[in-house]
Amino acid sequence: MTQPDEPRFRRLLVTGGAGFIGSCFVRDRLARRDGTQIVVLDKLTYAGNRANLAPAESDPEEAARLRFVVGDIADPQVVAPLVADVDAVVNFAAESHVDRSILEPVDFLRTDVMGVHVLLEACRTEQARARAGERAAAPRMLQVSTDEVYGSVETGESAEQDRLEPRSPYSAAKAAGELLARSYFVTYGLDVVITRGSNTYGPYHHPEKLIPLFITNAIDDQQLPLYGDGMQRRDWLYVADHAGAIGHVLEHGESGEVYNIPAANERANREVVAALLERLGKPWSLVRRVADRPGHDRRYAMDGAKLAALGWKNTMPFEDGLAATVDWFRTNEAWWRPIKSGEWEDYYRRQYAARLADSRDAE
Ligand code: NAD
Ligand code: DAU
Repeated sequence: MTQPDEPRFRRLLVTGGAGFIGSCFVRDRLARRDGTQIVVLDKLTYAGNRANLAPAESDPEEAARLRFVVGDIADPQVVAPLVADVDAVVNFAAESHVDRSILEPVDFLRTDVMGVHVLLEACRTEQARARAGERAAAPRMLQVSTDEVYGSVETGESAEQDRLEPRSPYSAAKAAGELLARSYFVTYGLDVVITRGSNTYGPYHHPEKLIPLFITNAIDDQQLPLYGDGMQRRDWLYVADHAGAIGHVLEHGESGEVYNIPAANERANREVVAALLERLGKPWSLVRRVADRPGHDRRYAMDGAKLAALGWKNTMPFEDGLAATVDWFRTNEAWWRPIKSGEWEDYYRRQYAARLADSRDAE
């Protein structure tokens, strides 16, 4: 039997580990059974869900290597003792939905900027302890960022050195967070790596986002609110590929560097919606053309040469990943139905009621 590679970092603090991508990272990492110990720090906002970690928590060997702490990355008193006990911090924690950032930006600044600052400060304290001989090495910090920091890319592909031109409160806050992280590498010599992932999809995706919203609405024969002309283009990355790439950069990335994580699955929104409806056996007539998202980025696309040179390759073809995702939502109604209640109903009304009342056929 082949043994898993010896991990470079054995004790990880995974912030936002109850969210969509963070929980996939935790589940996959623990399932390797390579001895890695993980502390998840998660505030359990509307987007955090302890059930996302159920597969790991129900396995005694994995559960013994997982500790869950409910808390805020912007709270130094919670963060400092946790960072003191780990070899690396992987920061997934964020407010992550563009539409919510347009409705109410303040939480995005608190978590996506100040939260990153608090994590970096805790790493800086540990760097001082390492220099004083009180611990072996300073922790590495991986900041999970996004392709949205490049802004709308009408043609071509964004490379890591390109100018950042974020256009929504969400992407502006994410850009601020990663620039702060980079400044701690330059100024203090902290061991920082940054990833910029593209649009991610898969099981456990919060139903506020396009693919799970449209799958779950279509299952219930509800209308599907397509923004504008539906010709915006995104590059769809399967969640296990995104989580795997982040793990690869954590292990092998060069300090101070940024790595794009593209998928090479660029599709117009209309194509994605048509494909998921076909898999569900539901009609296109559910789709409604509604008022566009303000400042809507038309297209994202990234060059992946740098990550490929580091030795990472995605494995999931888009059609297979989408079929697996549709099927997962079909068979896991017990996961998503409770999420689409309570706070969800207020949000849905604010975001969509007027739009849907004013909508037209999408043709
Ligand atoms: P998500 O919204 O599903 O999960 C975010 C998690 O962070 C939740 O568990 C939430 O409870 C937690 N959280 C929020 N604020 C917190 C705080 N102050 N302290 C501690 N925990 C807090 O997000 P996701 O889609 O899994 O995205 C994870 C990361 O990846 C984010 O940083 C996001 O910007 C980035 N990203 C996402 C995508 C995507 O398509 N989903 C693509 C590229 C990058
Ligand atoms: O590109 C990476 C980003 O991808 C991440 O940084 C964000 O955290 C993540 O939310 C995602 O952002 P998007 O805004 O691209 O994803 P969303 O699922 O919200 O929208 C995808 C596309 O679908 C976008 O063009 C807007 C459109 N859309 C979305 C919703 C929710 C609709 O047409 N109707 C909708 O109801």
